Amino acid sequence: MPENAASFLETVMREERVFAPSPEFASRARIKSQEEYENLWNEAQQNPEAFWDKIAQTELHWFQPYSQVLQWNEPFAQWFVGGKTNASYNCLDRHLNTPWRNKAAILWEGEPGDQRTLTYQQLHREVCKFANALKGLGVKKGDVVSIYMPMTPELVIAMLACARIGAVHSVIFAGFSAEAIADRNNDASAKVQLTADAGWRRGKQLPLKETVDAALAKSPSVQKCVVLRRIGNQVNMQEGRDFWWHDLMQDASADCPAEPLDSEHPLYILYTSGSTGKPKGIRHTTAGYNLYVKKTFEWVFDYREEDIFWCTADCGWVTGHSYIVYGPLSAGATQVMYEGAPNWPAEDRFWEIVEKYKVNIFYTAPTAIRAFIKWGDRHVDKHDLSSLRLLGTVGEGINPEAWMWYHRKIGGERCPIVDTWWQTETGGIMMSPLPGAIAAKPGSCTKPLPGVIPAIVKEGGQPVEQGQGGMLCIAKPWPGMLRGIWGDDERYKQQYWSRVPGMYLTGDNARCDKDGYYWIMGRIDDVINVSGHRLSTIEVESALVSHPNVAEAAAVDRPDEVKGQALSVFVIVRDAEPSDELREELRQHVGKEIGAFAKPDEVWFTAALPKTRSGKIMRRLLKDIASGKEEVGDTTTLEDLNVLAKLRAHEE
Ligand code: WTA
Repeated sequence: MPENAASFLETVMREERVFAPSPEFASRARIKSQEEYENLWNEAQQNPEAFWDKIAQTELHWFQPYSQVLQWNEPFAQWFVGGKTNASYNCLDRHLNTPWRNKAAILWEGEPGDQRTLTYQQLHREVCKFANALKGLGVKKGDVVSIYMPMTPELVIAMLACARIGAVHSVIFAGFSAEAIADRNNDASAKVQLTADAGWRRGKQLPLKETVDAALAKSPSVQKCVVLRRIGNQVNMQEGRDFWWHDLMQDASADCPAEPLDSEHPLYILYTSGSTGKPKGIRHTTAGYNLYVKKTFEWVFDYREEDIFWCTADCGWVTGHSYIVYGPLSAGATQVMYEGAPNWPAEDRFWEIVEKYKVNIFYTAPTAIRAFIKWGDRHVDKHDLSSLRLLGTVGEGINPEAWMWYHRKIGGERCPIVDTWWQTETGGIMMSPLPGAIAAKPGSCTKPLPGVIPAIVKEGGQPVEQGQGGMLCIAKPWPGMLRGIWGDDERYKQQYWSRVPGMYLTGDNARCDKDGYYWIMGRIDDVINVSGHRLSTIEVESALVSHPNVAEAAAVDRPDEVKGQALSVFVIVRDAEPSDELREELRQHVGKEIGAFAKPDEVWFTAALPKTRSGKIMRRLLKDIASGKEEVGDTTTLEDLNVLAKLRAHEE
C-alpha cells in the first residue's frame, strides 16, 4: 500500500456542464422536482424502516405479513422478518388479474433476426411448466440450479421457475470456460445444470453444451442437465443425465402455484471476480431484493406503463438479474430482449432494434458507448431514434465526452441520461439522477437514491473534507444489499465490513462536490500516483477521451527508477493514424487539461484493451505490461487473451 494511502485523493476534473431535465419531462415524471426528491430522501434517512415498510406493504404480494422490518446484526441483515412472499409471483401472478396479463412482457429478438413475443400470461404458463419440469428432476426448495444459457426467453423462464419453487439460481455468463463453470458449480454444490445446444455470437455458434460437458466432468454435485435446443446442432446427450428442454415441457403441467417463501429465502447466487482466484458467490435473498429492484426500476427509469424498455446487458450479470428480470417484470414493464452482439450483422444493429421496436428507454454500458463512438456516427444516422425518451449507463464511469456523444447522437439532446452507480453486491441502483428531478453533470452519478446513505472516508474511517476523494462506503443497511458470500461468512466480513468500522465498504473511491454530487473515481486499487499526486484513473482517461482522436483510454502507473512512479496510458485511436506526432499531441493535451505534472510518460497505441467479460477495463494487467513484467496477474476473467499478446508485442 502506498505510504500516503491514508490520505485523500486529489481531483483534477473540471466538469462544469449541467443538464437539467426539460419542464415537459419533469412535469410527467414520477418524481418531478429536486424538492420532491429531497423530501423523499430525508424521509428515508430519518426513518429508513418506516420508509421501506410503507413501500413494502403495497409493492409486494405477501402470503404472510412480516412482523419486523429490519433485524440488523452487523454485518448480517434480515429484512421483512417473518414475512412470506415469492419473486416469481411478484413478477407474474400479480399481473394476471389485471389487464396487464395480455401485455407483452418480452419482445425477444434472436441474433439471426428471429422474433418471439411473450405476454405476461404466456410467460407465466411457461414458467409454471418449467418449474414442474424442475420438480420432476428432483429439484427441491433450497437446491442450487446452475444456468449457462444464451439470452433466450428460456433463460428468464428458467430463473423465474427456480424462484417459483424456492430453488436458488446461479447464472453463469455463457462466455465463461468449462473451468469457470466447474469452479462455480463446486462452490455452490449445484444439483442441476441448465444449458443449450449452442448460442449465437457474432454469427458464430458458441458450443455451450460441449463446454458444459467438460464442466460437468468436474462438477460431481450436478446430477441432471437440461438442454434447450436453440440452434439444432448435433450434441452429445448422456443417457440418464441429460434431458431436452422440449421433452420435459411436453409433459409438464401448467399448474404450479408459487411457493410461499421466507423473506430471507435465498433467491440467487451470482459470482463476481474477487481479488483472489477463488470465485465469490454473492448471495441475494427474496423480499428485500425484490422490493429494491422494483422500486429503483420505477424511480430511475421513470417507468410508465406504455414504455418499451431495453436493457442491453446479459442475464449473466447482475444488471440482467435486476433490470431485465426482477425489476421490470415486477413493475409490469414491456421490454426488448436481444440475444446477440451489437455489431452483427453490422455496427448499427442496436439502432435498428431501437427503431424497429420503438424503444423508449435504453440502458447500456460505457464500454458499448465507446465502441459506438469508434465505429462512427454513420451507423447511428441510418436510423430513426426519435422514440427514445431516456438513456442510461452502468458498469463503469462514463467519460464526460462519451456522455456528450451519447446525449447528442443517441439522445438527440432531448433525453435525460441516468448514470447509475451500483454493484453486484448492492443488488440494485444506489446512486443515479432521478431523471425528472436531478440535473445531470456529465461523468457524475449525481445523488443517492432514497434510503441510500453514502459516506466518503479515509483509511480508518474518518470522513474526508468536502470535495476530497476517499473510500466510498454506505452507512446504513438497505433492502437490496447482499446478505453474504455463499458459504463464507468470514470472507464477507473481511471484504466488506472490516476496513471501515460500521460501514459497508464498496471498494470504489469517490468524491462529493459542493452541490452534493458524487463522482466515482474508480476502484480503490486503481488509484494512480503521479509525481506524488494521487489521482483517479477515470480523470486522466477522461482528459484523453476529450481529444477528438481518442476513442478509448486506460491509465496506469508503473514503478520508475527516477521518478518513483511513471504514468503510462493506453489509447485506442479514432479518425487518425497512430504516430509520434499524435503521441506528443496527446501528452500535451493531458498537460493542458490537467496540469503539466500529469503528462503521460508513455503513450501506448493499441487496437483493443484487456477487458473482463462484462466489459470493464482490467487496469492491473496493463500495469503489469507497462512495468515490463513477463508474467501478468490472474487472467481468468479476461475476455480475450490475444489482446495481451498484441500489447506485449507492441502491435498497433
Ligand atoms: C463500477 C455492475 C462508475 C464500480 C452494476 C462498481 C461504476 C463496479 C458505475 C460494480 C458507474 C458500476 N460509474 N463506476 N455508473 N457502475 N461501476 O459488480 O467500480 O459488475 O464498484 O456491477 O463497477 O460492478 P458490477
